[in-house]
Amino acid sequence: MRTKIKEILSHPSVESIIGHKISVCGWARTVRDQKSFAFVELNDGSTLANLQIIIDSQQSNYSKLMQEITTGAALSVDGIVVASPGKNQKVELKAESIHVYGLCDAATYPLQKKRHSFEFLRTIAHLRPRTNTQGAVLRVRNAMAMATHQFFQGRGFLYVQTPIITGSDCEGAGAMFRVTTLDMQKGHKDFSEDFFAKPTYLTVSGQLEGEAMACALSDIYTFGPTFRAEKSNTYRHLAEFWQIEPEMAFADLRSNMECAESYIRHCTKYALEQCKEDLEFFDQFIEKGLIQRLEGVANTSFAHLTYTKAIEILLKAPKTFEFPVSWGCDLQSEHERYLAEEYCKQPVILTDYPAKIKSFYMRANEDGNTVAAMDVIVPKIGEIIGGSQREERYDVLEKKINDLGLKIDDYWWYLDLRKYGTVPHAGFGLGFERLLLFITGMENVRDVIPFPRVTGSGDF
Ligand code: 4AD
Ligand code: MG
Repeated sequence: MRTKIKEILSHPSVESIIGHKISVCGWARTVRDQKSFAFVELNDGSTLANLQIIIDSQQSNYSKLMQEITTGAALSVDGIVVASPGKNQKVELKAESIHVYGLCDAATYPLQKKRHSFEFLRTIAHLRPRTNTQGAVLRVRNAMAMATHQFFQGRGFLYVQTPIITGSDCEGAGAMFRVTTLDMQKGHKDFSEDFFAKPTYLTVSGQLEGEAMACALSDIYTFGPTFRAEKSNTYRHLAEFWQIEPEMAFADLRSNMECAESYIRHCTKYALEQCKEDLEFFDQFIEKGLIQRLEGVANTSFAHLTYTKAIEILLKAPKTFEFPVSWGCDLQSEHERYLAEEYCKQPVILTDYPAKIKSFYMRANEDGNTVAAMDVIVPKIGEIIGGSQREERYDVLEKKINDLGLKIDDYWWYLDLRKYGTVPHAGFGLGFERLLLFITGMENVRDVIPFPRVTGSGDF
């Protein structure tokens, strides 16, 4: 039976497996032929560290193996675990038999030992998971999915699946991908002839459908891909990104804020406990001081500011912004980052934004100007969560949809939720890739998703 390299290297009492016969599989990272022995660093993706394989030159097929095992070759090794004289590892594997599955042409293999830029690695997204950085990113990504389910399941939220193809525009931002089987080239424009007999899109958010689920099941969360056809070429925008969207019935903005903060701090603690080796790697090579920053997040409450207060702070800031600030303006990432990085020096939850700059579904505050919105803003990234209490009053919501010129017929079912047993409810969406930037210290969302989709690039 095959053993994962992680099981060996992070065995709680590694000495106790010395002398055991095991079998491992993986890809050679480096090969050093030193006459009497050869050393192969083997990696199977289960952990950052490689397992050192020792091949005795007395082996009958030694010279053939030395020709075949080059960087990138896939092999399985049966051998005996032995104590390692080196100080980098406690044990290594003395090979008894080796099978080479796939050769790897050294002349053309793009992942040689030297360091490659992240830009270059994006052009070989099919091979980059074999690098240390991508391996670590993908293991942390997996851990954050686990942490997400653990957090919400622990609070009694039900995991629901909302549709990817939808006829309703949740954010009203107009940046949607159309889904159609009509041949546009032939001039088809009549959507009654289309597959769904109406215009449909890839969803920008599962929220509206999520609300319907919460208005029966009380607390739910979604975890799925969402799509935006924005041409924003930035370090924090993707055309396809993953969102976690919890929705809580019988809840207001206050419980929403508590949930969002606890969720992020839970993920942070989970990473510190479960991804130690990978975080140490990121701390050393990607963001110095990462672990200390994350410990701070895990142990300190977030700051809170209203939008109005935030504007006052920005107006007084000893700094000139590219985008001017005034009450009613949409906050740009430079503003968000000033608030989190320089003013609060920690994550901050901004609340009560002007109604004009937020989506139609957010609950109107008593002042008539602002809505019960909240954004969680973190250093280096800016917005990581957007959410709100939802407008649960039928008349207020109907008027808002009409005033904004949205098509009331598109929202008949959403309004029904306010007609039949309406309830105060609230929720938010967390951008999974932005969470990963926050946890790993990586700087571009394109480097924390296996196959990034952005405008002008849909390869793989
Ligand atoms: O603030 P947004 O647009 O909110 C919603 O979609 C709500 N319907 C969520 C809800 O209340 N259920 O997006 C939520 C989060 C943002 O805070 C950001 O982290 C992420 O999704 N996000 C993106 N991430 C990567 N690429 C993009 N283009 C993103 N747009 C938003
Ligand atoms: Mg937002």
